Amino acid sequence: IRIALTKGRLESKTIDMLERLGYDCTNARKKGRKLIMPIGNGEIEVVLAKAADVVTYVESGVCDMGVVGKDTIMEKGGTFYEVADLGFGSMALTKRSLYCFHNLTIASKYVNVAKNFFEQKSMDVDIVKIEGSVELAPVLGLADAIVDIVETGTTLKENGLVVAEDVCPVSARLIVNI
Ligand code: PRP
Repeated sequence: IRIALTKGRLESKTIDMLERLGYDCTNARKKGRKLIMPIGNGEIEVVLAKAADVVTYVESGVCDMGVVGKDTIMEKGGTFYEVADLGFGSMALTKRSLYCFHNLTIASKYVNVAKNFFEQKSMDVDIVKIEGSVELAPVLGLADAIVDIVETGTTLKENGLVVAEDVCPVSARLIVNI
């Protein structure tokens, strides 16, 4: 079985889960720059990929399963079965900065999620796609607010921002190809 795991914040929690299930994950813990490695007795092959690419690899069938955040699923969509909420990596997509009802400019990596969120509120906003460190956009004056992931809240705090409203809870999901 080949499982695509999201590199980064979900990676170690997924490896922890596989170890709890009894698989020897030494290879994954000492991976260096390797992107594909066997775990257990070799019955599982772990592929480390960027979140959106996990969906692509599962959709195409080159990976049997994937572990990816609900935030990516909501943003990217796709054709696959979402079979389990793994319960970890719980985060909230959050909009912040002061609420005003005209000419709001919103910065986000999650432009589709942001668009749907404000459409449901019947609010007309301008959305600017930012690839990372989205907190910079309001700090630099490019945007009034952002829609982004909050996990520990440290990034918000250290950049002088606050949560204005929760958009939705998100956590890691197990997906399989159709
Ligand atoms: C995410 C998110 C926030 C931060 C939140 O960025 O965009 O910036 O994590 O985490 P915290 O609440 O624990 O501080 P990520 O680290 O994935 O990197 P990126 O900004 O390059 O997307």
